[in-house]
Amino acid sequence: MKHPLARVATRADLRAIIGEWRQAGLRIGFVPTMGALHQGHLSLVGAALETCDRVVASIFINPRQFAPGEDLDVYPRMLDEDCDKLHAAGCHLAYCPSEPEMYPEGSLTNVRVETLSDLLDGGPRPHFFYGVATIVARLFIHVRPDVAVFGQKDYQQLQIIKRMTRDLGFEIEIIGAPTARHSDGLAHSSRNLYLSAKDRRGASGLFASLHRARTRIETGTKIEVALAEARNYLAKCGFSKIDYVTATHPETLETLPEAEAKKGAEGRLLGAGWFGKTRLIDNIAFRRPD
Ligand code: PAF
Repeated sequence: MKHPLARVATRADLRAIIGEWRQAGLRIGFVPTMGALHQGHLSLVGAALETCDRVVASIFINPRQFAPGEDLDVYPRMLDEDCDKLHAAGCHLAYCPSEPEMYPEGSLTNVRVETLSDLLDGGPRPHFFYGVATIVARLFIHVRPDVAVFGQKDYQQLQIIKRMTRDLGFEIEIIGAPTARHSDGLAHSSRNLYLSAKDRRGASGLFASLHRARTRIETGTKIEVALAEARNYLAKCGFSKIDYVTATHPETLETLPEAEAKKGAEGRLLGAGWFGKTRLIDNIAFRRPD
């Protein structure tokens, strides 16, 4: 039978359990989430279980990563269901703190990873990655894991967390786990819940467009040509707006112009687009032929 899932809401209760694990010499993995858990999150728990003895997942809808007018009020909240899923996935402890637990009254301190936070998704959502870095730093301090797992689906977030971990000297190994996908390629995402049945069909075009662009670039097509084809494809799939389809350096996320895309070098293709009010993102690695 599976061990029971412990659920705690305060830092003190969390530390009591984690303290015992530490004393027993156990390796602790951490998966931060905002709930509304799907296969993608559960695959992160699976990745943590591969290298850790105990896995903690947090569920906290972080108000500081939503701007006024975004979907904070309607963001899906389903704590009991989420905890059942974590239990079934083999997670040991759910940390579900309140807002004052994470942001004690009068909190003035935020974490800002310069430059990386201002590119791509940071353009239209300037508050977003500051909110993410701030909550993840606070969660790292509460949980003090050995390993933390983030999905490659949120690729820019992953690079920002890696950079923050390095810059602030957190002694935590950051693992970027592969994106969990539906059979048609669409990445699992809590926001897929907002898509109508028709939009859901078109949405799989995002991954298909990036996948095609990768094949084209890897077989010698110029980057700009492959990206233009991808944008056309997205429009045909019914995307109402395309924020970007771009080829970048895999760590700095700076645009990779044709002249700098060295043979054999790795890059990352990233795309973001809208179906009505739902914004989807995805990405894929590519390597120029030698
Ligand atoms: O990826 C997410 O769900 C969130 O951005 C995170 C990392 C849990 C921080 O709130």
